[in-house]
Amino acid sequence: MEIVKRPRRLRYSGTLREAVRETRLSASSLVYPVFVKEGAGIKSGIASMPGQYHWSPDRLPELYDSLLERGVNRIMMFGLPSKKDEEGSGAYREDGVVQQALRLTKRRYGGEVYCVTDLCMCEYTSHGHCGILDGDDVDNDRTLESLAVIAVSQARAGADMIAPSDMMDGRIRAVRLALDAQGFERIPIMAYSAKYASAFYGPFRSAADSAPAFGDRKSYQMDYHNRKEARKEVLADIEEGADIVMVKPALAYLDIIQTVAGLVEVPVAAYSVSGEYSMIKSAAAAGLIDEAALVYETAVSVFRAGADILISYFAPELSVRLRDGLNAER
Ligand code: PBG
Repeated sequence: MEIVKRPRRLRYSGTLREAVRETRLSASSLVYPVFVKEGAGIKSGIASMPGQYHWSPDRLPELYDSLLERGVNRIMMFGLPSKKDEEGSGAYREDGVVQQALRLTKRRYGGEVYCVTDLCMCEYTSHGHCGILDGDDVDNDRTLESLAVIAVSQARAGADMIAPSDMMDGRIRAVRLALDAQGFERIPIMAYSAKYASAFYGPFRSAADSAPAFGDRKSYQMDYHNRKEARKEVLADIEEGADIVMVKPALAYLDIIQTVAGLVEVPVAAYSVSGEYSMIKSAAAAGLIDEAALVYETAVSVFRAGADILISYFAPELSVRLRDGLNAER
């Protein structure tokens, strides 16, 4: 047998290496999560997520200007109401924090800032569960009614896309029907379809003060020992009308992203969640890793697994890196 002496990969150096890359990232695939807090004049650091802030609606323009300057124009909004109650009424009030933020955004920025809204009740309920309770259990069907009302109120306030994250059964259909009935048939739904009950949400729950007051979310979020169940969930959501399906978290769930991407014929989003962010941030602060390199490498892994969209707290850093071509030689 003839031995080939040329080194196998030297051929792929410099610009050629870039030309043959299988995975390419684009800033247009990134979505940045924003925490909007009821009140005025607020930009306050989130202790569990160094580098992330709570913003009151009036100060959002500051954030938008800096995002736009860095090439990020898609955001996902989470609301933090000043008062929580049993029914999570802050989620659908006409003057709710997300509704205020949406109106301001659309008035000042129009289509320049694309607004996805997270649709869930856990940031608004005093008990911290993702729905209306019946005793100690979430009442699935009453929750669906609330979610439909919240979705319509977000759409009225200017949401461009609705992202239900509650994991109740039948929620995509309920939300789709409600939106259509109110003339919002053009608003797409991005379903948190394969959402696992994960310890990676810890920093978010302190940021949103949304840890359940009792029990956990394991009755409605998925068991991470299961992969086939993700197939079932995404197919059901698509059948109910989801336009985009999401896998969450991202980093420890690359196999799920790959499975879903190979299965469905709609775009797949992955949410790199708070715990993934804070792990990298704290390891970098301790001088243990190269933050920028790791942010890029982990993002690539999500797209390599098959995701089309990445929701990430690192979206601005990633976008700048892509724009400056810093990925070329890494
Ligand atoms: C609401 C929701 C959560 C996250 C996104 N939407 C919290 C949860 O399910 O406990 C987590 C996002 C993150 O950790 O960055 N249900």
